[in-house]
Amino acid sequence: MKADVVLGLQWGDEGKGKIVDFLTPDYYMVARFQGGPNAGHSLEFNDKKIVLHTVPSGIFRTETLNLIGNGVVIDPVILMEEIDTIEAMDVDIKSRLLVSKRAHLILPTHKVIDAASEAAKGETKIGSTLKGIGPTYMDKTGRSGLRVGDLLSDKFDEYYTALKNKHLDILKQFDIEYKLEEEKWMQAAERLKTLKLVDSEYEINNVLSSHQRVLCEGAQGSMLDVDFGTYPYVTSSNTVCAGACTGLGIAPSRIGDVFGIFKAYCTRVGSGAFPTELNDETGEKMRKTGREFGATTGRPRRTGWLDLPALKYAIMINGVTQLIMMKADVLDDFDKIRVAVAYKIDGKIYDTLPYDLNTTNIEIIYKDFEGWKTKISNCKSYKKLPVAFKNYVDFIEQETRRSLKVISVGPNREETIIR
Ligand code: GDP
Ligand code: IMO
Ligand code: MG
Repeated sequence: MKADVVLGLQWGDEGKGKIVDFLTPDYYMVARFQGGPNAGHSLEFNDKKIVLHTVPSGIFRTETLNLIGNGVVIDPVILMEEIDTIEAMDVDIKSRLLVSKRAHLILPTHKVIDAASEAAKGETKIGSTLKGIGPTYMDKTGRSGLRVGDLLSDKFDEYYTALKNKHLDILKQFDIEYKLEEEKWMQAAERLKTLKLVDSEYEINNVLSSHQRVLCEGAQGSMLDVDFGTYPYVTSSNTVCAGACTGLGIAPSRIGDVFGIFKAYCTRVGSGAFPTELNDETGEKMRKTGREFGATTGRPRRTGWLDLPALKYAIMINGVTQLIMMKADVLDDFDKIRVAVAYKIDGKIYDTLPYDLNTTNIEIIYKDFEGWKTKISNCKSYKKLPVAFKNYVDFIEQETRRSLKVISVGPNREETIIR
């Protein structure tokens, strides 16, 4: 059996959590493959709303196993808080959650370094969620990180102290005051040891070999990928489909469908290029109607029109097989809906992305659509959707040469149309 992948095609917060929860009943296992508690994946069902940061979004479908893969970075404090919240909802999580021994640990000092380096950057700051993501991946690739499996070693305290001392040395170059929340971290790390810590590359390949289905859950979005995003305003992992292979130990030949998720418009939180950004009343209306405030940090999200050159780029890099459009309902009350179809740079027209989207002077070429001016969140089938909306969908399908498999018309599980 092949593993399917759900991932974001924009700058994160596309609605991955909702869709993974929606698709989970068809899968035996859901697996997170990269990122960490910088992610905030919202789920809504039975009048409940929950935001997951590290735990995969398949956890509320009680038949499904959930795996935190080797590519994820874990803050034990945040993971344990999540587990407590989920258990308080009467969900048995511990028997259905597997954690890779190869996943790296976010230490209290990683978070302090994250904050210190952002503060030192001043105007050029990335706008990080300050969860210690960058410094933890730096230690991973720098070959000095600590992994979940190290918690089981007699020498763990020694390893921890060595890495912490290295961090304290780094922190001497910054003029900052800080407090390390070590006691809480150590308690949470002790609890983490009691979870099912596994050699996840074997677990997942065995599941696939026994003809059971696996859904890989991406975090962030393709335009935040460390290689293909708007560098340096990106996160520190490979958010694209290839990240599912390295972040779980799945061979590329074992990847099946790639579900690319995008909003009917665009948002971004943090700094960096956003060619179609709207700094006006229309943008404010999108933010208000779409409740565009960060699920992890609460920061207002920047808003703008759908960007086809960026979307096509993400579809290419990920090998997307099916598209999923989110939050179409947010545009219900707009008279005119715009889509960026090309970029004009130095008088020339492109539908590809320039090397550096952050510094290139771009004029956007838009195509305008009439708004559908109808409330679509009650629609249960594609047939019932307004013609103006279908025109918008047809155009996106033509331009991307991909079909839209699912259209989400509200935050709730039920508000989802399958075509
Ligand atoms: P993720 O990080 O990709 O999982 O997305 P987030 O959870 O950070 O942000 C998506 C937000 O949009 C959440 O508040 C969801 O509840 C909400 N949402 C998801 N799908 C829809 C939709 O189709 N319509 C509306 N109005 N809200 C949605
Ligand atoms: P989900 O999974 C949106 C952004 C941050 C910042 C940049 C780097 O919920 O879609 P980091 O903390 O990784 O050092 O931040 O990436 N960012 C996200 N934006 N959704 C996310 O996750 C994000 N995770 C990180 O705002 O611009
Ligand atoms: Mg989010």
